[in-house]
Amino acid sequence: MPDTIPQLLSYDEPALEAAFRTLADEVRIEAAELPNGEPTADLRESFRLHWLGRKGGRLKLISEAWLKSAPPEARKPLGIRFNQLKAQIEQALEAPAAPTAVSTPAGPGIDITLPGLLRTPGIPHPLLETMHTVVKVFEHLGYSVNLGPEVETDFYNFEALNFPPNHPARDTQDTLLIAHQQSKPPRDRLLLRTHTSPVQIRTMVAQAPPIRIVIPGKVHRNDAADATHSPIFHQVEGLAVGADITFSDLKGTLDHAMKALFGSDVKTRFFPSFFPFTEPSADVQISCIFCGGRGCRSCKHSGWIELLGCGMVDPAVFTAVTAERTRLGLDPESGPHPYDPARGPDAVRGFAFGMGVERIAMILHGVSDIGNFYSGEMRFLEQFA
Ligand code: PHE
Repeated sequence: MPDTIPQLLSYDEPALEAAFRTLADEVRIEAAELPNGEPTADLRESFRLHWLGRKGGRLKLISEAWLKSAPPEARKPLGIRFNQLKAQIEQALEAPAAPTAVSTPAGPGIDITLPGLLRTPGIPHPLLETMHTVVKVFEHLGYSVNLGPEVETDFYNFEALNFPPNHPARDTQDTLLIAHQQSKPPRDRLLLRTHTSPVQIRTMVAQAPPIRIVIPGKVHRNDAADATHSPIFHQVEGLAVGADITFSDLKGTLDHAMKALFGSDVKTRFFPSFFPFTEPSADVQISCIFCGGRGCRSCKHSGWIELLGCGMVDPAVFTAVTAERTRLGLDPESGPHPYDPARGPDAVRGFAFGMGVERIAMILHGVSDIGNFYSGEMRFLEQFA
């Protein structure tokens, strides 16, 4: 429908005044609805066309209807008002929305009853947060943090950790191999690391004892996903190497760490276990934090929850580290090699441990399905905000 303009009943001063006041009000109201900035370019353009359009713009219609038929003595006052109106329109196009409308709560520009824009700041993912909490416990004991690659060589992931080629212990790790590695010597073949333990070796090859490190990181196994397994998960590894490290140090350290993580009431116990790179090896259990050890569904009525693997570093690992350091020319050809078990009473000893971050996070937060951590589901993640 073509725009209509008010009828001008006479050209006297009051009539002109009234007619232009109506028009000025119209401009103000429309201008107040123009928000600022780029996305409003369309709105601004239609406002401009509505008033200043060469064909059918309101100013054009007004000038046709009023100016042309005005008596000569009315032309000047009419022209002045006309120009004022035009200036008002042009100003509205240049300026942000009219300040009067913005500052008046009931003004036509802003509906202050609309809900505001909610800014939701990000939070650390619960797995990262748990990993950080574990690392912090050991940092307070004087440990440093070390990281290593997720694509690892057979040497670091297996061989140096005393998993000989074709040894059945390799089968327990469900390794994901990188394709097209057959042309390389076996020790250089690439795979996705199945545990964080290769970083123990990387650290010892690079650094002389004493060592206190924790190694947080992502690991991969060819496991089918279910409520407690995921082909990608996270571990925190620990390694302490020095002149007189004993199994008691290992027990005391882990007992302290478990109490720091789960509360000072938890008890720990060590069960004989097997890992190729530790001897003796143990699985560590904590008293069930849900029932206090009386027995419940969470601990399968045993009163205990199995949480991590650990042990004293097997001398075979120190031998492999010594050989690798020699191969790389890091130690003098003769003289003491810092990790060599052949040093007899001077030989270093060490302990190592490894724990699953998901398992700890599930226990700490009462999560029953590991898949929740990877789902990206906001209703799950928001609970940790
Ligand atoms: N790397 C072992 C695993 O992933 C855990 C472990 C680490 C055990 C260090 C003993 C010492 O199963």
